[in-house]
Amino acid sequence: MRKLIAGMKISVDARSEGPEGVADWAEAWSEDYGLTPQIDACLLGGGMYPGYERYWTAIQSEPDKPIWITGNAPTPAEIDWARFAAQIPHYVLSSNLTSANWPKTRFIRTLDDVTELKQQAGKDIYLLGGARITASLIDAGLVDELRLIVYPLVAGPGKSLFATAQHRRQLDLRKVEQLDGGKIGLTYGIK
Ligand SMILES: NC(=O)c1ccc[n+]([C@@H]2O[C@H](COP(=O)([O-])OP(=O)(O)OC[C@H]3O[C@@H](n4cnc5c(N)ncnc54)[C@H](OP(=O)(O)O)[C@@H]3O)[C@@H](O)[C@H]2O)c1
Repeated sequence: MRKLIAGMKISVDARSEGPEGVADWAEAWSEDYGLTPQIDACLLGGGMYPGYERYWTAIQSEPDKPIWITGNAPTPAEIDWARFAAQIPHYVLSSNLTSANWPKTRFIRTLDDVTELKQQAGKDIYLLGGARITASLIDAGLVDELRLIVYPLVAGPGKSLFATAQHRRQLDLRKVEQLDGGKIGLTYGIK
Protein backbone atom coordinates (compact mmCIF):
# COMPACT_ATOMS: atom_id res chain seq x y z
CA MET A 1 0.00 0.00 0.00
CA ARG A 2 1.20 3.53 -0.75
CA LYS A 3 2.28 5.47 2.31
CA LEU A 4 0.61 8.76 3.21
CA ILE A 5 3.26 11.14 4.55
CA ALA A 6 2.40 14.46 6.18
CA GLY A 7 4.77 17.43 6.35
CA MET A 8 4.23 20.52 8.48
CA LYS A 9 6.27 23.48 9.64
CA ILE A 10 5.48 24.34 13.23
CA SER A 11 6.70 26.59 16.01
CA VAL A 12 8.01 25.20 19.31
CA ASP A 13 4.51 25.74 20.75
CA ALA A 14 3.12 23.58 17.90
CA ARG A 15 1.38 26.36 15.98
CA SER A 16 0.88 25.65 12.28
CA GLU A 17 -0.43 29.17 11.59
CA GLY A 18 -0.06 32.60 13.16
CA PRO A 19 -3.06 34.84 13.88
CA GLU A 20 -3.23 35.99 10.23
CA GLY A 21 -3.78 32.38 9.07
CA VAL A 22 -0.26 31.91 7.70
CA ALA A 23 2.87 30.29 9.12
CA ASP A 24 4.74 33.54 8.52
CA TRP A 25 7.88 32.14 10.15
CA ALA A 26 8.49 29.91 7.11
CA GLU A 27 10.87 31.50 4.58
CA ALA A 28 9.43 29.70 1.54
CA TRP A 29 6.77 27.14 0.70
CA SER A 30 8.86 24.90 -1.52
CA GLU A 31 9.94 22.63 1.36
CA ASP A 32 9.20 19.06 0.28
CA TYR A 33 10.69 17.37 3.37
CA GLY A 34 12.86 15.35 0.95
CA LEU A 35 9.76 13.64 -0.44
CA THR A 36 9.77 14.60 -4.14
CA PRO A 37 11.61 11.44 -5.36
CA GLN A 38 9.21 9.06 -3.59
CA ILE A 39 5.81 10.66 -4.28
CA ASP A 40 3.55 10.91 -7.31
CA ALA A 41 0.49 12.56 -5.76
CA CYS A 42 -0.43 15.21 -3.20
CA LEU A 43 -3.39 15.34 -0.85
CA LEU A 44 -4.64 18.53 0.79
CA GLY A 45 -7.62 19.98 2.59
CA GLY A 46 -10.35 22.14 1.11
CA GLY A 47 -9.27 24.96 3.43
CA MET A 48 -5.83 25.17 1.89
CA TYR A 49 -6.40 24.28 -1.75
CA PRO A 50 -7.62 27.59 -3.25
CA GLY A 51 -4.68 29.61 -1.86
CA TYR A 52 -2.25 26.82 -2.73
CA GLU A 53 -3.42 26.70 -6.35
CA ARG A 54 -3.24 30.49 -6.65
CA TYR A 55 0.26 30.70 -5.15
CA TRP A 56 1.82 28.00 -7.35
CA THR A 57 -0.06 29.10 -10.48
CA ALA A 58 1.49 32.55 -10.07
CA ILE A 59 4.98 31.00 -9.98
CA GLN A 60 4.22 28.63 -12.87
CA SER A 61 2.99 31.50 -15.05
CA GLU A 62 5.48 34.21 -14.10
CA PRO A 63 8.52 32.70 -12.39
CA ASP A 64 10.48 35.96 -12.63
CA LYS A 65 7.91 38.12 -10.83
CA PRO A 66 7.64 38.73 -7.07
CA ILE A 67 4.88 36.70 -5.42
CA TRP A 68 2.11 38.85 -4.01
CA ILE A 69 2.14 37.26 -0.53
CA THR A 70 5.82 37.67 0.21
CA GLY A 71 6.76 40.46 -2.21
CA ASN A 72 9.86 38.36 -3.06
CA ALA A 73 10.81 36.66 -6.30
CA PRO A 74 10.34 32.88 -6.13
CA THR A 75 13.41 30.94 -5.02
CA PRO A 76 14.90 28.28 -7.36
CA ALA A 77 13.40 25.60 -5.07
CA GLU A 78 9.96 27.22 -5.39
CA ILE A 79 10.26 27.22 -9.18
CA ASP A 80 11.21 23.51 -9.04
CA TRP A 81 8.20 22.71 -6.84
CA ALA A 82 5.87 24.74 -9.08
CA ARG A 83 7.01 22.64 -12.08
CA PHE A 84 6.71 19.35 -10.18
CA ALA A 85 3.26 20.28 -8.81
CA ALA A 86 1.99 20.91 -12.33
CA GLN A 87 2.84 17.33 -13.31
CA ILE A 88 1.26 15.30 -10.52
CA PRO A 89 -2.35 14.87 -9.40
CA HIS A 90 -3.58 16.81 -6.37
CA TYR A 91 -6.44 15.24 -4.41
CA VAL A 92 -8.49 17.70 -2.35
CA LEU A 93 -10.62 16.43 0.54
CA SER A 94 -13.66 18.70 0.56
CA SER A 95 -17.41 18.46 0.74
CA ASN A 96 -17.88 21.93 -0.77
CA LEU A 97 -15.28 22.56 -3.46
CA THR A 98 -16.18 21.35 -6.93
CA SER A 99 -13.90 23.10 -9.40
CA ALA A 100 -10.22 23.78 -9.84
CA ASN A 101 -8.11 25.42 -12.51
CA TRP A 102 -5.48 22.69 -12.47
CA PRO A 103 -6.45 19.86 -14.85
CA LYS A 104 -4.95 17.17 -12.63
CA THR A 105 -6.82 18.20 -9.47
CA ARG A 106 -9.49 15.78 -8.22
CA PHE A 107 -11.92 16.25 -5.35
CA ILE A 108 -12.51 13.48 -2.86
CA ARG A 109 -15.30 13.54 -0.30
CA THR A 110 -14.72 11.02 2.48
CA LEU A 111 -12.06 9.30 4.56
CA ASP A 112 -12.93 6.09 2.66
CA ASP A 113 -11.80 7.87 -0.51
CA VAL A 114 -8.44 8.49 1.19
CA THR A 115 -8.16 4.77 2.02
CA GLU A 116 -9.00 3.94 -1.59
CA LEU A 117 -6.34 6.36 -2.83
CA LYS A 118 -3.76 4.63 -0.66
CA GLN A 119 -4.78 1.26 -2.10
CA GLN A 120 -4.24 2.37 -5.69
CA ALA A 121 -0.95 1.48 -7.38
CA GLY A 122 1.67 4.21 -7.29
CA LYS A 123 4.35 5.91 -5.29
CA ASP A 124 3.74 7.48 -1.88
CA ILE A 125 1.36 10.42 -1.33
CA TYR A 126 2.38 13.71 0.27
CA LEU A 127 -0.19 15.20 2.67
CA LEU A 128 0.50 18.92 2.29
CA GLY A 129 -1.85 20.24 4.99
CA GLY A 130 -3.45 22.30 6.40
CA ALA A 131 -3.74 21.59 10.07
CA ARG A 132 -7.33 20.32 10.14
CA ILE A 133 -6.92 17.62 7.51
CA THR A 134 -3.53 16.59 8.92
CA ALA A 135 -4.84 16.21 12.49
CA SER A 136 -8.02 14.54 11.26
CA LEU A 137 -6.25 11.96 9.07
CA ILE A 138 -3.74 11.18 11.81
CA ASP A 139 -6.70 10.72 14.17
CA ALA A 140 -8.29 8.34 11.68
CA GLY A 141 -5.10 6.25 11.47
CA LEU A 142 -4.55 7.05 7.79
CA VAL A 143 -1.17 8.83 8.01
CA ASP A 144 1.90 6.58 8.02
CA GLU A 145 4.61 9.15 8.62
CA LEU A 146 4.81 12.70 9.97
CA ARG A 147 7.66 15.01 9.03
CA LEU A 148 7.90 18.19 11.08
CA ILE A 149 10.19 21.16 10.80
CA VAL A 150 10.24 22.90 14.17
CA TYR A 151 11.11 26.58 13.98
CA PRO A 152 12.94 28.20 16.88
CA LEU A 153 10.15 30.43 18.09
CA VAL A 154 7.19 30.49 20.45
CA ALA A 155 4.52 31.79 18.08
CA GLY A 156 1.90 32.65 20.71
CA PRO A 157 -1.52 33.32 19.19
CA GLY A 158 -2.43 31.13 16.22
CA LYS A 159 -3.79 27.72 15.30
CA SER A 160 -2.31 24.66 16.96
CA LEU A 161 -1.56 21.75 14.63
CA PHE A 162 -3.30 19.23 16.88
CA ALA A 163 -6.08 21.47 18.23
CA THR A 164 -8.75 19.11 16.91
CA ALA A 165 -7.06 15.76 17.65
CA GLN A 166 -9.30 13.35 19.55
CA HIS A 167 -7.04 10.35 20.07
CA ARG A 168 -3.66 9.66 21.62
CA ARG A 169 -1.23 8.20 19.08
CA GLN A 170 2.17 6.77 19.78
CA LEU A 171 4.92 8.02 17.46
CA ASP A 172 8.10 6.23 16.50
CA LEU A 173 11.03 8.65 16.14
CA ARG A 174 12.89 7.74 12.92
CA LYS A 175 15.12 10.71 12.21
CA VAL A 176 16.31 13.97 13.78
CA GLU A 177 18.15 16.59 11.75
CA GLN A 178 19.62 19.90 12.84
CA LEU A 179 18.76 22.32 10.01
CA ASP A 180 19.95 25.82 9.19
CA GLY A 181 18.67 28.79 11.18
CA GLY A 182 18.10 26.73 14.35
CA LYS A 183 15.36 24.57 12.84
CA ILE A 184 14.96 20.90 13.69
CA GLY A 185 13.69 18.26 11.26
CA LEU A 186 11.80 15.39 12.89
CA THR A 187 10.52 12.27 11.15
CA TYR A 188 8.05 10.08 13.01
CA GLY A 189 6.43 6.82 12.03
CA ILE A 190 2.82 6.68 13.19
CA LYS A 191 1.58 3.44 14.73
N1 LIG B 1 2.54 25.25 8.88
C1 LIG B 1 2.47 24.56 7.78
O1 LIG B 1 3.38 23.81 7.41
C2 LIG B 1 1.24 24.66 6.93
C3 LIG B 1 1.12 23.80 5.84
C4 LIG B 1 -0.03 23.88 5.08
C5 LIG B 1 -1.03 24.78 5.40
N2 LIG B 1 -0.85 25.60 6.46
C6 LIG B 1 -1.92 26.55 6.79
O2 LIG B 1 -3.12 25.83 6.91
C7 LIG B 1 -4.22 26.70 6.55
C8 LIG B 1 -5.32 25.87 5.95
O3 LIG B 1 -5.61 24.79 6.85
P1 LIG B 1 -6.99 24.53 7.52
O4 LIG B 1 -6.70 23.73 8.75
O5 LIG B 1 -7.71 25.83 7.65
O6 LIG B 1 -7.78 23.71 6.43
P2 LIG B 1 -7.42 22.33 5.69
O7 LIG B 1 -6.90 21.34 6.66
O8 LIG B 1 -6.62 22.63 4.47
O9 LIG B 1 -8.86 21.92 5.17
C9 LIG B 1 -9.90 21.62 6.05
C10 LIG B 1 -11.11 21.37 5.18
O10 LIG B 1 -10.99 20.09 4.56
C11 LIG B 1 -12.28 19.54 4.35
N3 LIG B 1 -12.47 18.26 5.00
C12 LIG B 1 -13.32 17.33 4.55
N4 LIG B 1 -13.27 16.24 5.33
C13 LIG B 1 -12.38 16.52 6.31
C14 LIG B 1 -11.95 15.80 7.42
N5 LIG B 1 -12.33 14.56 7.69
N6 LIG B 1 -11.07 16.40 8.24
C15 LIG B 1 -10.61 17.63 7.98
N7 LIG B 1 -11.01 18.37 6.92
C16 LIG B 1 -11.88 17.81 6.09
C17 LIG B 1 -13.26 20.54 4.91
O11 LIG B 1 -13.53 21.37 3.78
P3 LIG B 1 -15.02 21.54 3.19
O12 LIG B 1 -15.65 22.52 4.10
O13 LIG B 1 -14.79 22.01 1.82
O14 LIG B 1 -15.64 20.18 3.29
C18 LIG B 1 -12.44 21.34 5.90
O15 LIG B 1 -12.96 22.62 6.08
C19 LIG B 1 -3.63 27.71 5.59
O16 LIG B 1 -4.03 28.98 6.05
C20 LIG B 1 -2.12 27.55 5.69
O17 LIG B 1 -1.50 28.74 6.07
C21 LIG B 1 0.24 25.55 7.25
